[in-house]
Amino acid sequence: MKPLHIISALTAAALSIYSCGEPQLDEKNIDRVIGRLTLEEKVRLLVGTCTDPANPPYPAPGTMTDRPYWQGNGENTYRAANRVQGSAGESFSIKRAGIPSLVYADGPAGLRIDPVRESCPETDFRCTAFPSASLLASTWNTETVHEVGEAIGNEVREFGVDILLAPGMNIKRNPLTGRNFEYYSEDPLLSGEMAAAVVDGIQSQGVGACIKHYAVNNQETYRNGIDAVVSEEALREIYLRGFEIAIRKSSPWTVMSSYNKVNGEYASESSRLLRDILRDEWGYKGFVMTDWWGADDPVAQMKAGNNLLMPGTPQQIEEIIAAVRNGELDEEVLDRNLKDILEVVIKSPSYRKYAYSNAPDKEKHRETARKAAAEGMVLLENRDMLPMSNTARIALFGNYSYDTQVGGSGSGYVHRTGKSNIYDGLENAGFILDSGLKNKYLSHIEKEKSLMPAENFWTIPIAQEMKLDRAAIEKAARENDAAILTLGRMSGEGADRHPGKGDYMLTDQETEMVRSICSAFSAKGKKTLVILNMGDAIDFGGWKEMPDAILMAWLPGQEGGNAAADIITGRKAPSGRLPMTMAASYADIPSSSDFGISPGETNRVLYKENLMVGYRYFTTSGKETAYPFGYGLSYTSFKYSDMICSKDDNGRISISFDVTNTGSAAGRETAQVYVRKPEIYGARPVRELCGFRKTSELAPGETETVRISLSYEDLKQWNTDDGCWAYPEQGYEFHAGASAEDIRLSCSL
Ligand code: BGC
Repeated sequence: MKPLHIISALTAAALSIYSCGEPQLDEKNIDRVIGRLTLEEKVRLLVGTCTDPANPPYPAPGTMTDRPYWQGNGENTYRAANRVQGSAGESFSIKRAGIPSLVYADGPAGLRIDPVRESCPETDFRCTAFPSASLLASTWNTETVHEVGEAIGNEVREFGVDILLAPGMNIKRNPLTGRNFEYYSEDPLLSGEMAAAVVDGIQSQGVGACIKHYAVNNQETYRNGIDAVVSEEALREIYLRGFEIAIRKSSPWTVMSSYNKVNGEYASESSRLLRDILRDEWGYKGFVMTDWWGADDPVAQMKAGNNLLMPGTPQQIEEIIAAVRNGELDEEVLDRNLKDILEVVIKSPSYRKYAYSNAPDKEKHRETARKAAAEGMVLLENRDMLPMSNTARIALFGNYSYDTQVGGSGSGYVHRTGKSNIYDGLENAGFILDSGLKNKYLSHIEKEKSLMPAENFWTIPIAQEMKLDRAAIEKAARENDAAILTLGRMSGEGADRHPGKGDYMLTDQETEMVRSICSAFSAKGKKTLVILNMGDAIDFGGWKEMPDAILMAWLPGQEGGNAAADIITGRKAPSGRLPMTMAASYADIPSSSDFGISPGETNRVLYKENLMVGYRYFTTSGKETAYPFGYGLSYTSFKYSDMICSKDDNGRISISFDVTNTGSAAGRETAQVYVRKPEIYGARPVRELCGFRKTSELAPGETETVRISLSYEDLKQWNTDDGCWAYPEQGYEFHAGASAEDIRLSCSL
């Protein structure tokens, strides 16, 4: 053999040994790759990279504290060498096996990464702040929500992130839950459909979504230790059902387990939740990660199938390795957990070495945010006030008119590209604002905020409401054509709201403002609009009859002001509908007697209301509400007619009816179908949402036929006798209407 041939043969042999010895990750060789990893390497891949003990002062595992972890070093607490600065975490990479690290970042209203990077000063890393989940759910429009998902997913991909830690989709069990703005609805069908739409949108961009917080994470008080005690029936039909819908419809790459316990067991340590139900019953194929520093037993988490521990601690690594070495934990459990992760890794941008641009089309996304925001605002009252011509002179009152809140605080905060306040939106639309009032408010807010800490994602400073005397209000009523007053509330991660004045209730000062503005303007034959800028309900007792119009603008994202102006001028017809009940009084809400308990008490919250959550309770008990679930006004009216229910040849139930625009303006209706299911295993709610459709924009006189097709699976109920699902084939009543309390047509099967 010639020397050259000998060298080539040796090289080929060496290469083949090398390629045999070092398989590089691809979809065909995941098991082989896992088989070549050392125990330490496997464990590193199952625990996030935030493993520098010198860096993050997080609460020691096992302390079961509700002290938020960010009360350590502030914003940089868990930023251990992240590739994308300001992302929430990263997983480990093993180069010799071709396994890249993945980058994980929040959150539900847009991507949260640091807005500036010292290493890259010329690049603008700010992202688009989209409307909060409360508003998105109020659109009742999966297409709009899909579009928002696409836009967020695009920013995720173009800023080098692999997995977005969103959407949040816990049930809004109680209006005081601090993170309700990040969740969709009190109803599992609406939550599940919204989550599936946003997940599909995000994942259409080649990045992953993470539905969270699985499961029964319905309060922030003592969130790391609280035990949600819930019946199997309510668990399956209410608290898990939305997750089930989203998993089956959209296959999210990842799921985040919640901090809390469910019936005595941490969600992240529950193989019943994570394996039996999620994987075996629902067929889930992605992987599960913990919420940040969730629970305290990494070995139990591994056994339960909580694949990835985020953001990761050295102690978790040590404990898992020790458990394998002493025989407490089978290494096969690690292989199984790792396989689920690697199956996602091979779909990720990092694996594909995607060359991200750091330059998504933010201008286009700003338009998407504005369109969605206008669609989800809910017109609660309108006594001949709206729409309003932009030639009107407006007296604009309330701090929130000038410092409009975009989203809540905490991990769901977005370092946004801009903000349109209500006053910006009105001015952009051509309204002339009372300049004296505007200047007073702007300088009041500036002065107050100069004494407060700068805004960051955990703290959003809000100025004290400015006091206005009667004379100033009367002067404004003389000099302007109409009044607009914005009232707001802020809430966020780590704390629940409180039921008293200043949060759920208006303060005395706010009530007085509503009263004096409305009376001064109405004395002059002029009208007042109240805009609400908040993530969930407030109390309407004693004041909702005073203004001529009330618009729930939610936490509307960075285009909120422009979107509110679109509704006020009629550029967009209001079509938002409430995704939760607004109770007449907090005490009427069934969960109000067992919510938000503090540590030191029992650490248990009893979900005594069982299935009677939100409108299920109010419609069954007949108790009056301030505004019912599904409610919202438009600038026109709709007639429902010709309802037909039938069983088709494929064993599905078809429901159809016509919706006709009977008013004089164009508009979209959200037609809702509620079912009354047969009572086989005990009392049931009289109404449960089983389908909904948003019509296209109907011109006056125009009719659209709404068709809903249901399977018996869609109507299943929990068999409390045998502990399994039941699919009764008869005994259903279907009700079509414009809200849970406005039923127009019925039929039975
Ligand atoms: C939140 C999660 C979030 C995570 C990472 C936790 O505090 O509960 O929703 O994704 O932090 O920021």
